[in-house]
Amino acid sequence: MKKVENPQQGAEHVYQIIKEELENGRLNVLGLATGSTMIPVYNKWTESELDFSNIVTFNLDEYIGIPASSPNSYASFMNEHLFDKKEFRKTNIPDGMAEDLEEECAAYEELLEEYPLDLQLLGVGENGHIAFNEPGTSPDSVTHVAQLTESTLGVNSQYFENDEKIPETALTMGIKSITDAKKLILLAFGEKKRVAITKLLEGNVTSEWPITHLLNHKDVIVITDLEI
Ligand code: GLP
Repeated sequence: MKKVENPQQGAEHVYQIIKEELENGRLNVLGLATGSTMIPVYNKWTESELDFSNIVTFNLDEYIGIPASSPNSYASFMNEHLFDKKEFRKTNIPDGMAEDLEEECAAYEELLEEYPLDLQLLGVGENGHIAFNEPGTSPDSVTHVAQLTESTLGVNSQYFENDEKIPETALTMGIKSITDAKKLILLAFGEKKRVAITKLLEGNVTSEWPITHLLNHKDVIVITDLEI
């Protein structure tokens, strides 16, 4: 675990890891996340000389039924904070407007098999969800349609603009899709994340706290400002 003073320092730490992985040629496929936690991380990258032009990315999740062009889509979040400012070889985000969602999930998972993740960035929800893997999700889960919990809908609806209603479902990489990445970096800042991080550090794997499935991975870096 890496204890930092604030999100900015956390972003510095992620930057150093990414820089080193890129320089050593170990980073070709990068898993990305959305959420306010990631904004300083992406700001740091876009202000830097980091060269991502050979990198393929996969985002963790996307709302169902929100067009990519809506400011509330995760696609828009990624364009605004990263993709409009840095060149990548190819960026992938699940298509929450796909006509056949099951087919979209299967296709996304197939792509992940073709391009195994070298590194996955993660945030965490207040209820311990990772991506949109809510409490109760199986550790064997792959990309799927997820039903969002009341807690997640409440927290995430604060960010919704233009009176658009927050969808109750999303497409998300599963816990297996995430933990198949070679390296994981989880960021958690602020008191709202204390319970989730405490559960992780307690060391008991339970599906009630999806974050604890990361305990079965051998290379996880947790970056937090919380003193636990
Ligand atoms: C959403 C995303 C998660 C993210 C979480 C935390 O639910 N699906 O991937 O970790 O938000 O967001 P924030 O960083 O804003 O706290």
